[in-house]
Amino acid sequence: QGNKLWGGRFVGDTDPIMEKFNASVAYDQRMWDADIRGSKAYVRALEKARLVSTDEMDQILHGMDQISEEWSKGAFVIKPGDEDIHTANERRLKELVGAPAGKLHTGRSRNDQVVTDMRLWLRDAISTLAGNALQLISTMVERAAAEIDVLVPGYTHMQRAQPIRWSHWILSHAVALSRDVERLQEIKKRVNVLALGRYAYSCKLAFDAISLNSMDATGQRDFVGILCVTVSLNYTLLSLVCCYSETCSSLMPQKKNADSLELIRSKAGRVFGRCAGFMMTLKGLPSTYNKDLQEDKEAMFDCYDTINAVLQVSTGVMSTLQINQSVMEAALSPDMLATDLAYYLVRKGMPFREAHGVSGKAVFMAESKNIPLNQLTLEDLTTLSPLFGGDVASVWDYRSSVEQYSAPGGTAKNSVTAQVEHLRVWLKKQ
Ligand code: ARG
Repeated sequence: QGNKLWGGRFVGDTDPIMEKFNASVAYDQRMWDADIRGSKAYVRALEKARLVSTDEMDQILHGMDQISEEWSKGAFVIKPGDEDIHTANERRLKELVGAPAGKLHTGRSRNDQVVTDMRLWLRDAISTLAGNALQLISTMVERAAAEIDVLVPGYTHMQRAQPIRWSHWILSHAVALSRDVERLQEIKKRVNVLALGRYAYSCKLAFDAISLNSMDATGQRDFVGILCVTVSLNYTLLSLVCCYSETCSSLMPQKKNADSLELIRSKAGRVFGRCAGFMMTLKGLPSTYNKDLQEDKEAMFDCYDTINAVLQVSTGVMSTLQINQSVMEAALSPDMLATDLAYYLVRKGMPFREAHGVSGKAVFMAESKNIPLNQLTLEDLTTLSPLFGGDVASVWDYRSSVEQYSAPGGTAKNSVTAQVEHLRVWLKKQ
């Protein structure tokens, strides 16, 4: 155990299988920059407290800069015995500056370092996620504005229900995503808290707050859990955005498969699984740090990586997908105006419940005659209600149908334009 940073009270070697099982350096090395920034701020705090001399501090700062350069060039060599990013950086510091390296860890535990590094890493990661989500929203908003007049069947229960604007459908996702961005901004404040409460340390690293209690600071991972939950929620929205996209089948030449969207949808399972798995790890842990908590990093990285890729692929899909307006509008059919037929009767004074019944009978009649709903004659309709008149012909127009819904949140042009404007203003404020 001689070369281990914690080897003093141990005898004998660690079983290589255990060594591998124990190590987190394979995945936590991506926090190398946060680890170095944290240590640089910490050594300044030690110097202020006169626990290292100014000269020792300078040597450590210089050594840390060298290590940083090695990492950014891809030249840092991980050695056997480097258990995690924290021990690896400190081992290298000792090689570079010698004895003063041993003073860096005065008064801090790796458990403090782990949370400090993770919080530093995660606050930047959250900004990246929010930025990518904003790009997706902005792509959606501009697409909705450009294609505001295209109509499509609106679906409920996977069935064609009523005509809507395609732009209205796009914006339904943009609006949901805007709440995601707000949630990310909210959790960033909770993430950006310093675990190791020396004021000097905090100043250098621009944390928003200092943890009130050291046992809470090192033993809780709700800041990782909330990321997993937020990403999962985000995912429930994104997995909805699955309609059109083109890639090829390797076997059947005529096929165009929606691979990008299917992958976006499928990775929801992965993220939800990570989230649930990590919650299970956290459940019922004893107070303060337990090695179980090492599981936090893979959950955090995988949730982040997955959603980050998904947001970018979604933006790609949203910006390149081509729509076929005539095919989309040809999918509209008169039966989708059955509600409008009921509204016609409502305007003539019939209570809606009754009008719904009459319109339903009209649908049944058209089905029995095997004709589209709008082919029923006025004579047919008047057998169902005397309120029908020649002006019923005006019902059979998809464009005027969508224009009825001009209240806030509706699918009429003025209402969708208001949604676009609202989101544009919101985007500017982010
Ligand atoms: N790699 C470990 C982690 O990420 C470091 C903490 C080890 N601390 C300890 N007390 N054994 O959780």
